[in-house]
Amino acid sequence: MLATQTLAEEIVDLKRKRRAILLAHHYQEPEIQELADAVGDSLELARKARDFEGDVIAFCGVWFMAETAKVLNPNRIVVVPDREAGCSLVDACPVEQLRAYKRRYPDHVIVSYINTSVEVKAESDILCTSRNAVKVVNSIPRDKTILFVPDINLGNYVKRQTGRENLRVWQGACIVHATFSARRVAAIKTQHPGALVAAHPECPKETLAMADFVGSTSAIIEWCTRHPAEEFIVVTESGVLYSLERLAPGKRFYFVANEQCNCSECPYMKRNTLEKLRDALLRLEPRVELEPELIRRALVPIERMLALS
Ligand code: 13P
Ligand code: SF4
Repeated sequence: MLATQTLAEEIVDLKRKRRAILLAHHYQEPEIQELADAVGDSLELARKARDFEGDVIAFCGVWFMAETAKVLNPNRIVVVPDREAGCSLVDACPVEQLRAYKRRYPDHVIVSYINTSVEVKAESDILCTSRNAVKVVNSIPRDKTILFVPDINLGNYVKRQTGRENLRVWQGACIVHATFSARRVAAIKTQHPGALVAAHPECPKETLAMADFVGSTSAIIEWCTRHPAEEFIVVTESGVLYSLERLAPGKRFYFVANEQCNCSECPYMKRNTLEKLRDALLRLEPRVELEPELIRRALVPIERMLALS
């Protein structure tokens, strides 16, 4: 490193030397999004991870996203700035519990949200993200019983949207979105009565009932950008503000502080920093390492989803 080089310059330099692509989820800090080759929601980033030239993927998101990238790129190195960048939804569905469920109900179709461990993906029939969950469930014959894993709010939202009575829902929740309460949305609405509400489907039913639009992080950004309204109450992680301000300058966005920490941030996503990203590119650690057999099994439901969307 040159004495005068900034951290950002060091990262750009290392990225070139490593022939690395830098993928960033919308919930990353702005300084990370600024350096990224692609910023997106989990579906867009899975697609980007599939179609790129180079040797290394530096995944600035959470661990399950990097695992997905590794399954799609078994011969490339995939690193994440912080190994502890996890997700409460992943923790809510240990693979042994899913295997026990499958032994009991072997004929149920397992639809797993991308926010699951690679081991859970390997036990699943098809994957989905918040962007395509309704489409994925609609692709399954109506006479089948489905188990939707692991997000209770997204699962119940999909159940309402598809009218599928025979859809069972796991009891996991996102620690961030599950505590964006209808009460808090109503309080902001009182201050800004003209603002429209856009919410992520991981929010509770009562919160979603107040929304003018429900969608994935990228879908929320696209909707707010295209809609002629000037003011929006955005019920998701506040990292999306980076793209909203860039794509919709002049519009006003109000974020909801959740009931738990009184903020709108995912503590897992925010573990990644520029320093840790620099170190990950330098040391090629923390690195995702997966057994070939696990990759082979997890790839099947991922490919089924990507073929559909
Ligand atoms: P998206 O699919 O909208 O990127 O959501 C991922 C996530 O972790 C939401 O909390
Ligand atoms: Fe997981 Fe929620 Fe954080 Fe998304 S916002 S990574 S679902 S804990």
